[in-house]
This record gives sequence, C-alpha cells and structure tokens, in this order.
Amino acid sequence: MKKLSLITLVIALTFTGMSQDIKLPVPTKKGGMPLYEALANRQTNRDFSPKQLTDQQLSDVLWCAGGVNREESGKLTSPTARNAQEIDIYVFNEKGVYLYLPKDNMLKQVLKEDHRPDLSGRGGKMTLEAPVTLLFFANYDKMNGFDEQARGFYGATDAGFVSQNVYLYCAANHLSTVVMGAINRDRLTEIIPAKGKPILAQPIGYAK
Ligand SMILES: Cc1cc2nc3c(=O)[nH]c(=O)nc-3n(C[C@H](O)[C@H](O)[C@H](O)COP(=O)(O)O)c2cc1C
Repeated sequence: MKKLSLITLVIALTFTGMSQDIKLPVPTKKGGMPLYEALANRQTNRDFSPKQLTDQQLSDVLWCAGGVNREESGKLTSPTARNAQEIDIYVFNEKGVYLYLPKDNMLKQVLKEDHRPDLSGRGGKMTLEAPVTLLFFANYDKMNGFDEQARGFYGATDAGFVSQNVYLYCAANHLSTVVMGAINRDRLTEIIPAKGKPILAQPIGYAK
C-alpha cells in the first residue's frame, strides 16, 4: 500500500512538472466586421480589465497575427521578407509563456511562471494589467541568409505587419490593444529560449 502511494506521488509530481501545451480551437476565418469599418475603428487603447480572453479569441487573434492562410504553401496571414517566417509569436499570460506554432495551431509552453513583469520597459503597467500580451520575436535561426543589418531591418519590418493584423483584429472585436516598443529587451533576450531579438510586445484585453 505504501509502495502504491509512493508511485502515485511520483506520477503526480512528474505531471505537475510537465509543461502544459494548448491545442487551440480552429480559427474562425469567416465573417466579422468589414475591413473598412475595422480600419475606421483601429486605434491604440491602453486601458485593460483583467477579464480573460477565451481560447477561441486567442486562436483567432493569433491566426490574424501570423497563422497559416494557404495550406498548400504554408504561407502566413502576415508577409515576411523572403518568406523567412522569422517572427515567432510568444503568448505571455498568468500561467506562463507559450510559443505559437501556426502549422499545428497550438501553443507550446516554454516557461511556466508568470513572466508578464519581464515584458515591461519604463512605465509599462499595461503588460501587468492585460490578461495576455503577445511578444513578436525575430528568430535569427530562421534568418540564415540575412546579414546583421538585414536581420535588424527585416525583423522589425515584419513584426510591424504582425502588429497591424492584431490591431485590426482588436478593432473588429472591440478589444483594447497597444503595440509597445518600450519593452525590457535585455531581460526578454535572457528568458526566451531562442536566438534572436525581441522586437515589439502587444497587450490585448477588454477595456475596463
Ligand atoms: C513601433 C511603435 C512602438 C510603440 N511603442 C509604444 C510604447 O512603448 N508604449 C506605448 O504606450 N505606445 C507605443 N506605441 C503606440 C503609439 O504611441 C500610438 O500608435 C500612437 O500614439 C498613435 O496612436 P494610434 O495607434 O491610436 O493611432 C508604439 C507604436 C509604434 C508604431
């Protein structure tokens, strides 16, 4: 009996230590606010309530940000120079940090603790208030044919397209968002388990 409870304890501890990947629901892809109305509503809003987004909302915003929109070629909703697809999107929430895998439509957990405080640069309380913040990270392992200057230029440019797609999703769905260049790049470079540069962060949530 004692042996059995010891085995149960070991199994429980093993599972508690395991990362929690999340399979996302199929993104919506149809309907929604007409493009011209979404553009008319597009704006920065720095006001966030703690209300959580649903997994469906997360799947939809990530698909807009950089999901696969052409299955045959595996190309994405946002363009990238030479189709490098180098912008990794990390999702920060209270449970940890997740890497969005567009081809599998899932979130792979890469860190377990709440790392939202690591996002903020000067005065960045938005990333603490919003339930979710996306980090756009230029992955240099996906930019092999680019010299250092091109990595900097195209990494930043490509992240801009991703951000605008997120702005349009938020405008069309009455959510608050702000793109942030003032982030703690040194700290983020330390914690993100990939070689590259944290470019922009973008908190998303409901307005208070
Ligand atoms: C590259 C870039 C970096 C930005 N960084 C920040 C930031 O760190 N913090 C912030 O509050 N807003 C930031 N913004 C948001 C701008 O302040 C905002 O877009 C601008 O005031 C225009 O407002 P609008 O987006 O409502 O048109 C940034 C915008 C861009 C394009």
